[in-house]
Amino acid sequence: ATIEKPPLSISMINMFTENWENIQNFQARPDDILIATYPKAGTTWVSNTLDLLHFGQREKPIPLHKRVAFMEVFIPDFHSGRRPLPTSPRLIKTHLPVQFVPKSFWEQKSRIVYIARNAKDNVVSYFHFDRMNKAHPEPGDWSSYLQRFKQGKMVFGSWYDHVSNWWKKKQTYSNLHYMFFEDMVEDTGREIDKLCSFLGLTPSVEEKTRIVGEVHFDKMKNDEMANYSTISDFDFKVSPFMRKGKVGDWKNHFTVAQNEEFDEDYKTKMKDPTLQFRTEI
Ligand code: A3P
Repeated sequence: ATIEKPPLSISMINMFTENWENIQNFQARPDDILIATYPKAGTTWVSNTLDLLHFGQREKPIPLHKRVAFMEVFIPDFHSGRRPLPTSPRLIKTHLPVQFVPKSFWEQKSRIVYIARNAKDNVVSYFHFDRMNKAHPEPGDWSSYLQRFKQGKMVFGSWYDHVSNWWKKKQTYSNLHYMFFEDMVEDTGREIDKLCSFLGLTPSVEEKTRIVGEVHFDKMKNDEMANYSTISDFDFKVSPFMRKGKVGDWKNHFTVAQNEEFDEDYKTKMKDPTLQFRTEI
């Protein structure tokens, strides 16, 4: 399937487009928090962090996909009355390019947290995800996958356009916090502080320390309420969802020639000097 808003048209899978009208007509609220990412940029990490910051430890554990609603699949259900959205503030995640975000979010001035990840690690993570996610098209071999990534022929479209257009939005929409996966890896506590000041939260030192521990990769990997182990579309025998959680794993996948070609092509697509990514830390 594809979705269009001329001049933009991106490839999608039916699961995300069959209720397109409901998604576009979604009624956002001023206190909603939208978590926006290109797939595999750290959505789950930041989703869990935001949920813990707002709601702390739940008395009864709830899997992450029920604490944070996935707009492209959850909202249709919500419209048909099958599932309530989580309590206020509603945490909603989306992978949509900025042009496709339902307009009520802008009207209501809802807060948005965007997470971006360097292209090389992002494509590696997406490759392994497409291998294990039965709802996505087969990725094929690595070198053709990389080629397709550069051409933007991916579910949710081009990484280059996604990160760049969300970055541009930041200049005109002040309720947008743009953060980087690499910064989270480098210093999770510092990034949580920034999130708190954006969201107007003031956790105690103990609470913050606890959350930093909760969202550590090893903790989340083993946390059944956060590692998506209950999602039946995922084949964990092929690849875990919580795979490595590192900066620089691309070096284990790119050949020297692929890396050089990638860098050349990158320069032609990423012209804004103010948007810089780190491929190692
Ligand atoms: P890798 O495949 O490189 O390991 P998303 O949630 O957007 O689908 O992103 C998934 C990526 O984020 C995966 O990357 C996953 O391991 C990583 N990730 C998830 N939780 C993490 C955490 N707590 N710390 C570090 N990385 C995490």
